[in-house]
Amino acid sequence: MVHRQLSILNGETILTAVQGKQQQESIVELSGVHVTLGSHAGPVHILRGIDLEIRKGDTVSVVGPSGAGKSTMMMIMAGLESPSRGTVRVAAHELTAMDEDELALFRRDHVGIVFQAFHLVPTMTALENVAIPLEFAGVRDAFDRARDELVTVGLGHRLGHYPNQLSGGEQQRVALARALAPAPALLLADEPTGNLDSGTGSQIIDLLFALSGQRDATLVLITHDQSLAERCQRHIRVVDGLLQDGEHPLAHPDVVAIPS
Ligand SMILES: Nc1ncnc2c1ncn2[C@@H]1O[C@H](COP(=O)(O)OP(=O)(O)OP(=O)(O)O)[C@@H](O)[C@H]1O
Ligand SMILES: [Mg+2]
Repeated sequence: MVHRQLSILNGETILTAVQGKQQQESIVELSGVHVTLGSHAGPVHILRGIDLEIRKGDTVSVVGPSGAGKSTMMMIMAGLESPSRGTVRVAAHELTAMDEDELALFRRDHVGIVFQAFHLVPTMTALENVAIPLEFAGVRDAFDRARDELVTVGLGHRLGHYPNQLSGGEQQRVALARALAPAPALLLADEPTGNLDSGTGSQIIDLLFALSGQRDATLVLITHDQSLAERCQRHIRVVDGLLQDGEHPLAHPDVVAIPS
């Protein structure tokens, strides 16, 4: 068996995980990432020195208490937030060297994101929500591709429905189709089942894993649900803006088992 060493450096903490898989290329490299924002009460240190490498094709859970910085770290990976300090390299692009226009193109071409609150455009049908971003990306058969993607997520019968005419689970399927349609190398999901009942949530998660696997997308999944986190190959724990030693990341009270 071929073993590979993964090192996550976090201040004085070194996490070393050994995985029985071939050496792969990195898709995410965060180095010394700090995010500090101003507030009335003074600066808030949200991320305090994150070093993280994620390899292509990995499935990674991100767990940790509320307010720890998980979503902020994901926004950094997506190029939606800029670090105050440190470097961010995703899909061989140095995000910290890019301007807003370059970041928009980077996101369009490399990253799919699924949020807890779906974030569909309310004035667009399911089909348009998926097709219009593809059109902006210059895809000629955008509507055909969007239709295929919606059929894949089981929504072929709801193409003309507006978000307010769709259930939460159906809206999340549209969001998943929208995220996957451009074939992103990196799929980021921030508590994608947080607004859904457990049965509907598990269908969405099955789709998320199946489709990201089929398309060789790297999946980073923020969740408070232990059973979802356990489905990932790797587990990262964020506490108070830092990565924590991840030897037993799931055996912690803030990651709860949600009964199915
Ligand atoms: N614009 C902002 N200005 C100041 N502080 C902020 C801002 N945005 C987020 N924060 C703070 O940053 C911290 C981390 O927020 P973040 O959303 O990354 O946490 P999280 O780990 O995703 O939490 P949850 O599990 O509740 O979603 C929180 O304490 C939050 O209040
Ligand atoms: Mg969050």
